[in-house]
Amino acid sequence: MNIQINEQLGQEQSSYVAPYYTLDCALGINSLGAPKLSPELGAELLKEVDLYYCHSHLAELATNTACYVGTKPEQLTFTNGSLGALELIFNKLLPKEKSMLGVGPQFVEAVSEFQIAGGTYRSLNMFDYWNEDELLHALKAELKSNPPTIVYIDNPNNPTGLIYTRTTLMELCRACNEVGSILLIDEAYGEFLAVEESMIGATAEFDNLIVLRTFSKGLGLAGIRLGYAVSSKKLAHYLNQSVLPFAPSLPAIKVANHVLCNMGTYLRDTQEQTQTYKVELMELLSEHGIEVMPTSIKTPILLAYMKGVDLAGWLKKAEILTCSGSHFHVTCQEVDEQYTRMRVVGNRRDLVQLDQRIGHLTSQINA
Ligand SMILES: Cc1ncc(COP(=O)(O)O)c(C=O)c1O
Repeated sequence: MNIQINEQLGQEQSSYVAPYYTLDCALGINSLGAPKLSPELGAELLKEVDLYYCHSHLAELATNTACYVGTKPEQLTFTNGSLGALELIFNKLLPKEKSMLGVGPQFVEAVSEFQIAGGTYRSLNMFDYWNEDELLHALKAELKSNPPTIVYIDNPNNPTGLIYTRTTLMELCRACNEVGSILLIDEAYGEFLAVEESMIGATAEFDNLIVLRTFSKGLGLAGIRLGYAVSSKKLAHYLNQSVLPFAPSLPAIKVANHVLCNMGTYLRDTQEQTQTYKVELMELLSEHGIEVMPTSIKTPILLAYMKGVDLAGWLKKAEILTCSGSHFHVTCQEVDEQYTRMRVVGNRRDLVQLDQRIGHLTSQINA
């Protein structure tokens, strides 16, 4: 049946009312929000703010964190976010003349901090290798021919959300040890790894290994700016000597202690919901013709690709914020604006919105 409707409705309508609220899939926070914080904590945070704190607070944090990640308190160094740990390592631990070998695309802030600290950076392109064994082989060859001061691996990888196997990382650690390179494993997204996937356990054994962790991602506390390095007792001694006194703030330490002691099911819920929404997000992207680069379904980020399209700019038209691949270009020549990093949303409403909005954008292309 042919019905008659107003022809004007088929055209774009001008209006000053934007139908879209912002869907933030850009920054790597916990989409599910912070863990529950008890009201008493609020009052506790205001106490003693006039003082340089007593180190018992920091000692308590070290004990709680060591218990949480299964290491010894003396192997920990606390910093202002894990970015603070990167800065500490690059500027104070490493010598003036330094070089870094990485695997791109990867966390670009680590690379730019390293370069600002006077270091030179080179990387292998992860997409050039069919599998991890081939990548490991190439890394080992690179280590032998031109040993860098430091090898930087983000695991899980930012932006792809890919997880490297512990077997590969252990072998890389041994190879680094043989040529005198430090291996820095950035586990900022470490809450999305299984215990046996983390390299924290190996820090007691290797003096050339540093693992970074943060409260910003899986623990949902990006605003408190608290991160830490895990290393052998010997390395931790150097790091703790060079960290600024009172580096993490007292309120940050109090919040972290509170959360570590009262986590309940928060972490498990975060992991489960992240996986559920990631699988659905991957499906819907592929239905809309957007490719997802190799990733793990356990992690909250992915790298999306659409040939010939400025993907972040295109999604922004529908108020979907993502992080353009062009940011990662210095770590991997291949990754440009056709790629974008997306953080998995934290609820079904936003997932449905993503589906509808991307559908709307693709129908505009097809028209
Ligand atoms: C791989 C990686 N390392 C480190 C950081 C820094 O996090 P923070 O300084 O909040 O601990 C991030 C944040 O995006 C990251 O993705």
